Parts: sequence; C-alpha cells; structure tokens
Amino acid sequence: MVLCFLVHTVGPVSALSSGESRVLYSRAFGPDEGFRSERDRELSPDERRLLQKEKAAVVARQVRSAVALSREASDRQLVELMPGDEALALQEADSGVVRLRAGEPFSEETSALWLGVQSLGFTLVCEPHENLLLAEGTLRNLTRHCLEHLHMLGQGSEVLLRSNRIDALLSRLLPHGQLLFLNHRFAQSLEKEVLAYMAK
Ligand SMILES: *[C@@H]1O[C@H](CO)[C@@H](O)[C@H](O)[C@H]1NC(C)=O
Repeated sequence: MVLCFLVHTVGPVSALSSGESRVLYSRAFGPDEGFRSERDRELSPDERRLLQKEKAAVVARQVRSAVALSREASDRQLVELMPGDEALALQEADSGVVRLRAGEPFSEETSALWLGVQSLGFTLVCEPHENLLLAEGTLRNLTRHCLEHLHMLGQGSEVLLRSNRIDALLSRLLPHGQLLFLNHRFAQSLEKEVLAYMAK
C-alpha cells in the first residue's frame, strides 16, 4: 500500500542545498488517508488537511536532503534541461529510498522512494513491506507521465501544476494507493487511456 504521492521542489539544479522544499502536489491514500492514530482520527476535516500538509512537508524536507546528498556524492555535472528533454531528464534522474522512522511523520515506519528530476522531487511513501521494485516502476511511470504531459521541465519553481490531471493519473496508475502488476497488454491499454485523457 502506498500512503502518499508528492511532487515537491528539491532546489535548483545549480544550487544544491539552499532553501526549503516546496510541496507542489500531494495526495494521501488509504481509508484513513495516512491518519492511523486514534488522536488523528478525531480531527476535523480542516485539521486533517493541515496535518496532511505538515506530513507532506516533513517528507519533502527529508527527500530534499537525500537528493542533495546523493547529488553531492555522485559528483555529476547537472545541466538544466528544457521542454522536449523529458526522456533524458528521466534517464538522468537521481533516485533513492529514505527510511522514515515511526512518528516521522507517519505513525508507522515507512519508506519514501524518490526520484530527483532537475529541480523537482517525485516521491512515493510506502508501507515498509511493500514491493519496492514495483513501487519504483510505478513511480517512474507516474513521473514520466507528469513530465511529458504537464510540461514540468525548464520552468524552475514556477512549475504550473494541474493537480486535477495528476489526480486522474493516480486514479489509473495507482488506484486507491494500490500498486498494480501490469501485464503487457494491460500496460499498453493503460498507456493509451492516459494519452487519450492527457490530450483532452
Ligand atoms: C510502466 O510503463 C510501462 C510502459 O507502459 C509498462 O510496460 C510497465 O509495466 C509499467 N510499470 C509499472 C510498474 O507500472
């Protein structure tokens, strides 16, 4: 089960560690949408939204430092890519997993899988026993569709997010937070469906 998906900034390509991470999109899954503890369940909808935002911010911050560390360690020269370079951007993406301890910010331990694409982070938070290989494939596909159809490259932090489109992507590729095992034919028909929707 995936607990949440978020898109956030990880800092400009040229300046690795300055500034905060800004959450551009976040979506929680599950019957209680990541609210596991008794205390959380008694919250009003507004309080839940606020808490959800705080949790997303904690995850984004952790991933942001992981991305910065990974980039520092890899010592690769990052070049700023432009619209049209989506495939290359995905190929060159940094990736990793951050273990989030219980309470930081979810009540149970979780794994945050991330892809750092230029100045953006794409992150899936999974339960610890989740199939991480499948989760990574799903994260790559989600990221690919976001990059290709939502024109997210080359706009720095001004990236304009059409969140209803991401909602629609998630409902297909990650319905209710469930990772899908796709056979070839189903993957193809899903791909067509997404293309048709995104072309609207
Ligand atoms: C990702 O998309 C490709 C191409 O549609 C597909 O073959 C693959 O099964 C997908 N992977 C996952 C984990 O959804």
